[in-house]
Amino acid sequence: MTALSFKGKEFVYNHHLAVPFRPLVPHPDKGVGQASLDGNLIIQGDNLHALKALLPYYAGKVDCIFIDPPYNTGNEGWSYNDNVNAPMIREWLNNNPIGIEDGLRHDKWCAMMWPRLRLLRELLADDGLIFVTLDDNEQHRFRLLMDEVFGDVNYVAAAAWQKRTSPDARKNLSPAYDYVTVYAKEITKGKLSLNKMPLAAGRIDEYRNPDDDHRGEWASVDLTGQTGHATADQFYEIELPSGRKIQPPEGRCWALAQETFNRLVADERIWFGVTGDNRPRLKKFLSESEGATIWTWWPYEECGTNEKAAQALREVMGQPITFDNPKPVQLIDRIISLATDQNALILDSFAGSGTTAHLPA
Ligand SMILES: C[S@@+](CC[C@H](N)C(=O)[O-])C[C@H]1O[C@@H](n2cnc3c(N)ncnc32)[C@H](O)[C@@H]1O
Repeated sequence: MTALSFKGKEFVYNHHLAVPFRPLVPHPDKGVGQASLDGNLIIQGDNLHALKALLPYYAGKVDCIFIDPPYNTGNEGWSYNDNVNAPMIREWLNNNPIGIEDGLRHDKWCAMMWPRLRLLRELLADDGLIFVTLDDNEQHRFRLLMDEVFGDVNYVAAAAWQKRTSPDARKNLSPAYDYVTVYAKEITKGKLSLNKMPLAAGRIDEYRNPDDDHRGEWASVDLTGQTGHATADQFYEIELPSGRKIQPPEGRCWALAQETFNRLVADERIWFGVTGDNRPRLKKFLSESEGATIWTWWPYEECGTNEKAAQALREVMGQPITFDNPKPVQLIDRIISLATDQNALILDSFAGSGTTAHLPA
């Protein structure tokens, strides 16, 4: 497998094992209700220590991890602080925060991420998923880190989240989206099953009921298919209600075998148009819809923008906010709805303004 090499890799490779276990100390005065380590938790501190402290309670139990690490733009002010037992890495501590001039900026970022990704993997359940937001500063290095820590077979996809609604005039080619990269802990792509999403309002508007069907509103889909994998019983003549007889269009077959087609006609699930003379289409009822399959384009109308997230944060916290580019609640909602069902265990170890905790229960 192609592996990423970065300065310090040999020193951080097993650093997660050397990180001491530190106890989680409840602060009842900062919490709501009874302080309890097995309830919802906000942990203050370096996330390397926090992740290690969570291991005894949550190893192999977390259903969904969302992380939004520093993008390593060179002006976020993040610091490399890990107590790695190697002189070269100890020297790095003198050059914090990591600025744009730092020639080892990318090595330090990889060295910071490596032990955290190792611990996150240990915390994830066997059928769990991890979602990670980044941009072009580190996305390509991150993919290689993940291929090594999680295994390239566990890569699921990288969605493009449209983070803004218009170009940034200060940029030459203004980025419109961030990546939301998804890896599974164990499951291969074949077994992966993400939840469907509720249909968007625009899609629901496409459902009508021109034949007053008792099952309610429906939308129709094409009933022809490609001939590549077609079987003989997908080529047959159909007599339309108007009496006209038709074959599949040139180079196409019917999507359904004749027996299935006849059964659906009998159940009034095939639409031949108002006059009964159109090529047949399949009726899909809104009441039977399982929701929409999500693809890797996540537009701002569905997942919000950084600007909207900052606005929402200002409404909660008052002006001015000290967090750059917070993530919108809608984005985290999309991730959690895709990956989990009720009562899931969710972890965000670069919480920033705490968007993940903002989600309604
Ligand atoms: C990109 S921001 C996350 C923003 C967050 N998703 C939000 O919606 O506000 C990255 C966050 O990680 C925090 N961070 C960086 N290094 C950290 C560390 N070692 N331990 C804990 N948090 C860290 C930063 O302070 C920053 O708030």
